[in-house]
Amino acid sequence: MPKSREIHLVARPEGLPGEEDFKVVETVVPDASDGEVLVENHYMSVDPAMRPRLTDGYELNEPMLGSALGRVVQSRADGFAVGDFVLNRFGFREYFVAGPETLTKVEPVEGLPLTVHMHALGGTGFTAYGGLLKIGQLKPEDKVFVSTAAGAVGSVAAQIAKIKGCWVVGSTGSEEKARWLADEVGLDAVINYRETPIRRGLRGAATEGIDVYFDNVGGDHLDAALASMNTLGRVAVCGMISGYNEPGARTTVRNLANIIYGRITLRGFTAADFLEMRPAFVGEMTEWLRDGRVRYKETVFEGIDAAPRALIGLFQGLNVGKMLVKLAG
Ligand SMILES: NC(=O)c1ccc[n+]([C@@H]2O[C@H](COP(=O)([O-])OP(=O)(O)OC[C@H]3O[C@@H](n4cnc5c(N)ncnc54)[C@H](OP(=O)(O)O)[C@@H]3O)[C@@H](O)[C@H]2O)c1
Repeated sequence: MPKSREIHLVARPEGLPGEEDFKVVETVVPDASDGEVLVENHYMSVDPAMRPRLTDGYELNEPMLGSALGRVVQSRADGFAVGDFVLNRFGFREYFVAGPETLTKVEPVEGLPLTVHMHALGGTGFTAYGGLLKIGQLKPEDKVFVSTAAGAVGSVAAQIAKIKGCWVVGSTGSEEKARWLADEVGLDAVINYRETPIRRGLRGAATEGIDVYFDNVGGDHLDAALASMNTLGRVAVCGMISGYNEPGARTTVRNLANIIYGRITLRGFTAADFLEMRPAFVGEMTEWLRDGRVRYKETVFEGIDAAPRALIGLFQGLNVGKMLVKLAG
C-alpha cells in the first residue's frame, strides 16, 4: 500500500489562480483488488481547460483530475502486466488503483519518448490535426494564422499547415518562443503580440489576408483575425484562453459583423467531432515525428508540489510546447 500525494482544490479562484487555491494532501493507496491495477504516474498534463473547471467542475477538497502517463506496479487485471505504461485520467496524484476500462496501454514508438503520447501524438496533436483539416477545411496554398503557435496545440497546427503547403503566420508572447517558431519550426512569419499589438502585427505580416484562422486565444486575437479574413475564410475555434480567467470564460469580440460580407465560417469544435480521423492522424503524425517534419518541445516542472505552479504558468506563458509535470521515473 504505497503512500501517495495528490492535489486538491481548496478555494475557487477569481481571476488568475494562486498556489494558495490548492493543497498537497498525503494519502495511502490500497493494493489492487481482483480486476484492478495499481499505477504509479510518471507524468501528468496541465491544460488550459482546467481553469474554467476550477470555477465550476472540480469538487473542492477532492483530488483533481487530468490526463497522465503512468506505469503499472501491481496487476490483478487481465491484459495488464507490471511495467506496462498506461494513459489515464487520474493526474494530480502519484499513485492510484483503477480498472482496465479507464486505462489505455501505450505502445512505444522507436526513437520517440513516451511523452509524445501526451501531446503531439496524443490529444493536443489530434485536436490540431482534425481542427485544421476538417473544421478549418485546409487547402494547399491557404494563408493560415495560428495563435499560441508555440504551445502544444498551436505548434502542431502551424506545422501541419506548413506540411500541407500553406503560408503560415503564428503569434506568441515571447522573444524566445518567436525565435523557435521562426528559426527551427520554419513559420513564414511570427508575431510577438507583447511587442506589436496583434491587429497591427497581423495586418503587417499577412499582406494577402487570411483564409484559415486556428483560434486558441479569442478576444483581441480573434478580432484581429476577423479584420484580416479573406472571403469565404474559415475560423476553427479551438480555444479562447484569453477569457478563461474571467467568470464564464467570457471573451469580448468586436469584429463579428465581418463574417457577413466575407461569408466567413466560424466553428467551434472538440476532438469528438472527428474521431473517424484518428487512424489517419496516428499514421501521419508518427511519420512526421520520426522524420523530424513535426518538431515539439516540452516544458517540464518537477514533482507533484509543482503541479499548481505549472497550471498557473499556462496563463503566464511559461511553457514552450507542452506543459508537463514529472512525478516519477
Ligand atoms: N477544442 C478542444 O478540444 C481543445 C483541446 C485542447 C486544447 N484546446 C485549447 O487550445 C488552446 C491551447 O491549448 P494548449 O494545451 O496547447 O496550451 P498551450 O498553448 O500549450 O499553453 C497556453 C499558452 O497560451 C498562451 N496564453 C496564455 N494566456 C494568454 C492570453 N491572455 N492571450 C494570449 N495568449 C495567452 C501562452 O502562450 P504565449 O506566451 O505564446 O502567449 C501559453 O503558453 C487553449 O485555448 C485550449 O483551451 C482546445
